[in-house]
Amino acid sequence: MTAKIYPVTITGVGKGLPEKVITNNDLEKLVETSDEWIFTRSGIKERRVVSGNETASSLAVKAGIEALKYAGVEAIDLDLIICATSLPDNLYPSCACEVQAQIGAVNAAAFDVVAACSGLIYGLKIANNFIKTGEYKNVLIVGVDVHSRFVDWNDRTTCVLFGDGAGALLVQRAEDEQNDILCIDINADGRMGKELRIPLYGSNCPLAEPNSPELQHVNMNGREIYKFAVNRTPESILNVLSKVDLTVNDVDKYILHQANIRIIQSIAAKLGEDEEKFYVNLDKYGNTSSASIAIALTDALEENKINYPSTIILSGFGAGLTWGTAIVRWRAKDHRCHSESI
Ligand SMILES: CC(C)(COP(=O)(O)OP(=O)(O)OC[C@H]1O[C@@H](n2cnc3c(N)ncnc32)[C@H](O)[C@@H]1OP(=O)(O)O)[C@@H](O)C(=O)NCCC(=O)NCCS
Repeated sequence: MTAKIYPVTITGVGKGLPEKVITNNDLEKLVETSDEWIFTRSGIKERRVVSGNETASSLAVKAGIEALKYAGVEAIDLDLIICATSLPDNLYPSCACEVQAQIGAVNAAAFDVVAACSGLIYGLKIANNFIKTGEYKNVLIVGVDVHSRFVDWNDRTTCVLFGDGAGALLVQRAEDEQNDILCIDINADGRMGKELRIPLYGSNCPLAEPNSPELQHVNMNGREIYKFAVNRTPESILNVLSKVDLTVNDVDKYILHQANIRIIQSIAAKLGEDEEKFYVNLDKYGNTSSASIAIALTDALEENKINYPSTIILSGFGAGLTWGTAIVRWRAKDHRCHSESI
């Protein structure tokens, strides 16, 4: 006897962004750079960074609450919270447990997933598997990263690229039996991990060999990461499409990880696709890592850039190195999405 497979759908989206905006002109005061260099090489104009009482978990809570509101679901009904984060507030407890406590999701299990900028796709894969097997009905995924604590603000090659933020998806068993998560592919190549890393090691034990930790900052080989992104992402997109007998002609919108406009343009060219099909908001937020795909989906919906129904590609790449792609359907009717509520 084959086990029943339950249909899965995304019913809520949300974002949580810091108040403080840092423009390219602001960065000119910190490092030898210019708005012109940053904008032409990356497409970024400004980014947000945490200040005051803002933290990874406070941004994650904001995004999570917004996604629940969007879907009209109560926190108490959540079965699981997954935070996709590489830069949480604590090594433990997890960011997901902090969110669970702050939103009152007392019935939810909670854990973090570390897959950097692909984390949201990894989280979606986990949520999808839990729901389609019937184990859970309601899973909240929050992608959140606070890079401003981990970039070297004297290093112009990295500090201009990143921003802080959180983005959330509410994933549920579909009430109308129509499955909207068509395919998800996640990948990793740990051999290339050294190309993008934030080291965190060293011994603090007075009885052990002294082992001085490296500076805990973003270390990035920009050119290698660029090549990796523009090769692996289109490969992954074509791979998932072929698994469900679709082609790029069936895709209505691409919501890719928002790292660099040149990376997005190159991926569009490799797929032979019109750049118009690629939603872009990295000019406003920079690279928000695990959060970027959910923030972009939220903004695209808010700006009415997504038609109903739509076939959407969500795709991310980042440290690990990791990458992954999901094909999702977005429907209006009989799909509990209330765009007026965000
Ligand atoms: C980082 C990145 C924008 C650099 O662009 P690039 O065209 O490869 O630029 P280069 O690294 O070749 O640098 C060109 C020059 O600009 C300089 N430069 C680097 N950062 C600069 C800055 N912020 N302002 C001004 N000049 C800068 C470099 O020092 C170099 O000078 P040199 O020629 O005198 O040595 C690009 O490689 C990239 O986007 N990589 C992917 C990074 C990424 O997305 N990471 C996250 C993935 S999740």
